[in-house]
Amino acid sequence: MKRILVIEDNEKYVKVLDKALHSNSSSSLRIITTSSVLHSIEYLKQISAVDLVIVKNRIDNQATASEMAAYMIREGRAIPMIVLGPVDCNLPAICSVVADPYTNWKDVVGGADKFLQSAPTINRNKDGGKYSRIPLPYLCNTDKLSCDLYLKIRNKDNKYDYLKRISEGENILGGDIKEFQRMGLNSFYLDDKVRRLFINKTINETANKMEDANSNITDLLGNLEIAYHLITVEVCRFGFIDNLTDLLGPMIQYLERIITHEKLRTQFVKILLAMDSSDTFKQAALTHFACAAMVNASEWGNASQLEKLSHVSYMHDLALENDLQLTSITEDQQLTETIESKSKRDLVHQHAALSSMVAQQYSKLPFGVARIIREHHGSPTGEGFMLALDENISALAIVFIVAEKFSLELLDCHDPCVETDRDQLFQQLYDYFPQKAAQNLVHNLNENITI
Ligand SMILES: [Fe+2]
Ligand SMILES: [Fe+2]
Repeated sequence: MKRILVIEDNEKYVKVLDKALHSNSSSSLRIITTSSVLHSIEYLKQISAVDLVIVKNRIDNQATASEMAAYMIREGRAIPMIVLGPVDCNLPAICSVVADPYTNWKDVVGGADKFLQSAPTINRNKDGGKYSRIPLPYLCNTDKLSCDLYLKIRNKDNKYDYLKRISEGENILGGDIKEFQRMGLNSFYLDDKVRRLFINKTINETANKMEDANSNITDLLGNLEIAYHLITVEVCRFGFIDNLTDLLGPMIQYLERIITHEKLRTQFVKILLAMDSSDTFKQAALTHFACAAMVNASEWGNASQLEKLSHVSYMHDLALENDLQLTSITEDQQLTETIESKSKRDLVHQHAALSSMVAQQYSKLPFGVARIIREHHGSPTGEGFMLALDENISALAIVFIVAEKFSLELLDCHDPCVETDRDQLFQQLYDYFPQKAAQNLVHNLNENITI
């Protein structure tokens, strides 16, 4: 599959181009549209496998094409660019200009096809070095290691060293994983060159385990957690590769089966909270569970809405790659207070818009999911956090926002030795969401969820 990033603010023209590019191209295409340089650059940082950029010379007062070209040169990116003219400045040689693209759109489409025939696909090393991170749960279904695994240790010069901890061919037992968890280890590192191979093996092993009909609920949730990590971490690196997308549908269906099963439904929260799983997975599964409770109990709810919300539950923070420190931020003030690095702050500020763009690459994404992902922090543009819930955001986005806040609060106050104070938990939610629509949803949730 080839990816084209289109930076253009004329929606009608984007539609024409989209249709023409699809019907003219011999390869399958994924077209991602944006109207800002900032979003485009963030997207390129997340997804390296972009084959072509089509960019309007200027949008409003911004010199869109020259800024994109400057970024490509600065970063040494080899992505070809077609500029939609007329141009009003000197552009570097990497740009191919179509002077009158609005009447001669066929020139744009023809030019695109030429570039796509030979465009390379580049896989990005997220950590920028020789080693890259894998979450600990990836090892749960592996018996014999297919490569060496390293620990990342800060040295006395405040830099990092990688120490080999487990060698290729060694067996990993369930007890080892528990021991690593007890030590507070949540990741290992491997040589980035062997990552794709390792990931493919992990995906296949997980898919096989998910098919095992004899699994009990804890095994099942354990496998679903691995599938969840694979989907949320690897998509940003490799895109939606086929065997990876094959995990997402069954994963959502399994969880839906568990949470609609009469007996399991009443135990679901307790079982999930008692597991050794990561908080990011628990948060996503609890959000899905809360969405299901609200949708299933309301007059307006139906299966297609739940299908959308379940996809949103697992895909809404794709751009943050499962980093709990980043995914648990829900307010601007919290963002400025907790994150020092400016680039990370920018990423979190825009992550709803970016995750929505990433999710659009999934060919089986139900209609409407991308919009809910964009609005999942209350802002219609997907930038920043709007506690006031903008009046233009969709009703399903509000359902999701209430469900996610519920799961964050529940995880926050959970103590394995003490019964959760349900009244206090719900009072916090009522206080947090003064808006009428959200208050009704909190009431609906309170009436229909067993915790
Ligand atoms: Fe988010
Ligand atoms: Fe989130």
